[in-house]
Amino acid sequence: MTFVGGPRIGAVQLENPFVLAPMAGIGDPPYRRLCRRGGAAMVCAEMVSANALHYNDERSRQMLATFPDEHPISMQVFGNDPERLAGAAQAAESAGADVVDLNCGCPVPKITKSGGGISLMREESLFAQCVGAMVRAVRVPVTVKMRLGFERGENRAVRFALIAQDQGAAAVSVHARSQEDRHSGCPDLEALGAVSRSVKIPVFGNGGVQTYHDVRAMMDTGGVAGVLVGQAAIGNPFLFLEFLAAQGGNPAQGVVPLNKKFGLLREHAALIVDYYGELVGMRRLRKYIPSYVKGLPGSAAFRGQVNRLDKQDDFLALLAEFEAGF
Ligand SMILES: Cc1cc2nc3c(=O)[nH]c(=O)nc-3n(C[C@H](O)[C@H](O)[C@H](O)COP(=O)(O)O)c2cc1C
Repeated sequence: MTFVGGPRIGAVQLENPFVLAPMAGIGDPPYRRLCRRGGAAMVCAEMVSANALHYNDERSRQMLATFPDEHPISMQVFGNDPERLAGAAQAAESAGADVVDLNCGCPVPKITKSGGGISLMREESLFAQCVGAMVRAVRVPVTVKMRLGFERGENRAVRFALIAQDQGAAAVSVHARSQEDRHSGCPDLEALGAVSRSVKIPVFGNGGVQTYHDVRAMMDTGGVAGVLVGQAAIGNPFLFLEFLAAQGGNPAQGVVPLNKKFGLLREHAALIVDYYGELVGMRRLRKYIPSYVKGLPGSAAFRGQVNRLDKQDDFLALLAEFEAGF
């Protein structure tokens, strides 16, 4: 397999261009470890509230936990208060973040109504203060994840990427959709290309990448240095190896055989139970199962049965029975 190297984010040299996107409720330590092993050059942690860290919220502090085999890892914070964001960036750096990211793309009302997420793309000067405060607060590189804008067709990201660069951000990632698109619809690769051409720092593209064909389109038309993969990687932690094999001209090498997929699912179950305990772990595992077994005969029934199980041994027995059918 050919590894052609990836972009640099400040002092952090990525080994390839493929990164696990930040996903709340998905990108936890067990899953990130699997994705690193599955070829992701960097993994992004779930977003954490700067306000919650400011008030020493225990759960938010725990969300900064990481394992040695995850690095390089990007930890993302959200909020709209420069001082608190700076404090949150320091907390992430102390917890072992190799990169600290500012969330300027989340469209969820719970986040935007308090001025965080994509709301930061409404006010250039506050955005600049937030990025600048974070950059000055830490030694590790600071990045910004943004969207193209609020409505389909607008491209605020050119302007905001330039501001981020001026404030010392080491890279930006652009979800090439608008707020109104949420997490679906075709990414606007032309608009992404305009962002890539306007700044000197690396731009990562994001949105709708499922296949290596999508990767190529994003890199060629969108002109990006790397790609963040979100939903397509849920339950498919080895997708990055598929991309790497395709990039090296050997797509067949990247196809994960069925027995290896089942092996991964068993390993995921072990990691998640080890991390959260059996009850919480087995419940969290349910979110990933549909993608692991997607397209296999009997997968719907299997999913239904798994959703009723709370014990790891019962799950492993059911999985063995399901696997024996292939
Ligand atoms: C379940 C879920 C949780 C997400 N959580 C975050 C988050 O915490 N921070 C963030 O910047 N984006 C978050 N996103 C957005 C993704 O990072 C990504 O931008 C989006 O899914 C588009 O990429 P995709 O088409 O490859 O999935 C989330 C998306 C999903 C589906």
